[in-house]
Amino acid sequence: MITRRKFLQRSSLLATTLATGKSGLLDAMPASHAPATMPAALDLTILPQFVDPLPIPEIAQRQGFRTRPENPKLSVPFYRIQAQPVAGKIHRDLPPTKFWSFGPSTPGPTFETRSGEPLLVEWVNALPTEHFLPIDRTIHGAEADKPAVRTVVHLHGAKTRPESDGYPEDWIVPGRSSLYYYPNQQDATMLWYHDHALGINRLNVYAGLLGTFFIRDAVEDALNLPKGKYEVPLILYDRLLTRDAQLLYPVSPDPQSPWVPEIFGNAILVNGKLFPYLEVEPRKYRFRVLNASNARTYHLALVDNAANNHAANAAPVHQIGTDQGLLPAPVPLANLEIAPGERADLIVDFSEHRGAQLILKNDAFVVMQFRVSSARVTDTSSLPSSLRPVPKIPESQAVQTRLLTLDEYVNKSGNPVMLLLNATHWKAPITEKPVLGSTEIWTLINPTNDTHPIHLHLVRFQILDRQSYEPWLFQTKRQLHFLGPPEPPEPGQAGWKDTVRAYSRMVTRIIVPFDGFTGRYVWHCHILEHEDNEMMRPYEVIPAV
Ligand code: C2O
Ligand code: CU
Ligand code: CU
Repeated sequence: MITRRKFLQRSSLLATTLATGKSGLLDAMPASHAPATMPAALDLTILPQFVDPLPIPEIAQRQGFRTRPENPKLSVPFYRIQAQPVAGKIHRDLPPTKFWSFGPSTPGPTFETRSGEPLLVEWVNALPTEHFLPIDRTIHGAEADKPAVRTVVHLHGAKTRPESDGYPEDWIVPGRSSLYYYPNQQDATMLWYHDHALGINRLNVYAGLLGTFFIRDAVEDALNLPKGKYEVPLILYDRLLTRDAQLLYPVSPDPQSPWVPEIFGNAILVNGKLFPYLEVEPRKYRFRVLNASNARTYHLALVDNAANNHAANAAPVHQIGTDQGLLPAPVPLANLEIAPGERADLIVDFSEHRGAQLILKNDAFVVMQFRVSSARVTDTSSLPSSLRPVPKIPESQAVQTRLLTLDEYVNKSGNPVMLLLNATHWKAPITEKPVLGSTEIWTLINPTNDTHPIHLHLVRFQILDRQSYEPWLFQTKRQLHFLGPPEPPEPGQAGWKDTVRAYSRMVTRIIVPFDGFTGRYVWHCHILEHEDNEMMRPYEVIPAV
């Protein structure tokens, strides 16, 4: 019998010899998988929980209005946001942690804007010239001749022209800035901005270079959802902390390849705090959840302090939206699975929990606390039974179907050393060139043992289905032999998405209208360690003839 691991080694090594020239590096890897000697990690069990209130990131303030050369009549709000070093208190009893952030605290400020109202952001790199996290110079784009500190900002989920999209090679060094234009011609949703610099993106985001960006519209307004202080962003990311509460980014013991394939932190932060609490009223709240972790997928549930039961939420939770906006109807949720890059829009009703303390857990781990007051309140907000229609795109609309593999390469001891999309390096010529205005089906074939959250810039798409298949047959003969029926997306994923979980040993099909602009964009795995080690490819939207 072939074990999963052996299978992975066999198939991946085969693919490696076929597709890459990195075998020298593979041979040189040590046989052991011993972790590198690392500074002692912080013992979280000694920290009191729920002593810090949940911080809410500030709203970004515009610095006036500006026009652009191509349209001098249109004056748009102008923002200047500076990437800079900051010290953040993640817990009352810990010393400040050194971060990099957009602005004076991390996460960076929240943008509030409306659909169809454009804005300009000058993204300034005011960071020092040395990185405080370990750069792997063997990774593409981070070679010894590249400056250590580089940033480029991508607004994840935004429909922008390529020159404002934060192409990974459009990085700037400290002392420079880029002026990006966001037309915001898209449905209401929560986007997020983060660094995207080639080869060090995982380090820059880990350092804290991220924030959220809300687009509102009339459809959302008309729903009378909880708003103002009853709408709260929950930005989740895990970090490895040393005993003195500093960020630790691990390196592999192999000096030739310090890259680690995923990192999982011992501390889960919410809006930058460890074990925060939020005082809520016994009424409905809207929570805008973002998974901004490098690699961790969360399985969240709201449990009663006493019962600690993970089977169902203590208070009713409905999912009303996903990455690119509202779902057709609220979906009752027992728990929420959310992968890096994904967003979920939730309504939680605390009205039956007057005076209670509820805990948000990730599997068995405590994330944060909700303290429900015993006040008598009138909740005038609603949870409508229908939200926003999401018309299903018929498969017949697709003019092209692309089979694209997600490939992991391992060395002789079975340790991953690199990942690629469709066995193709970043630098290879562009192979995916959809026509502007056309619709395509992208069939993502995942032979690896990991879920890869695959994200496409510029577009929104729908998940058609997922189907388990026999990887070895595909690897050797390119035959798709399915092992089960196609499974439609779960209701919470059956809306407009920009990041899709491609599950292990499954074929995931998405249908994508390539609307917006022509030019060069990227698609990639949103596990940032994978993305940085080449699980990212350019694609180009070409004009219709
Ligand atoms: Cu959230 Cu290309 O990224
Ligand atoms: Cu993106
Ligand atoms: Cu991946």
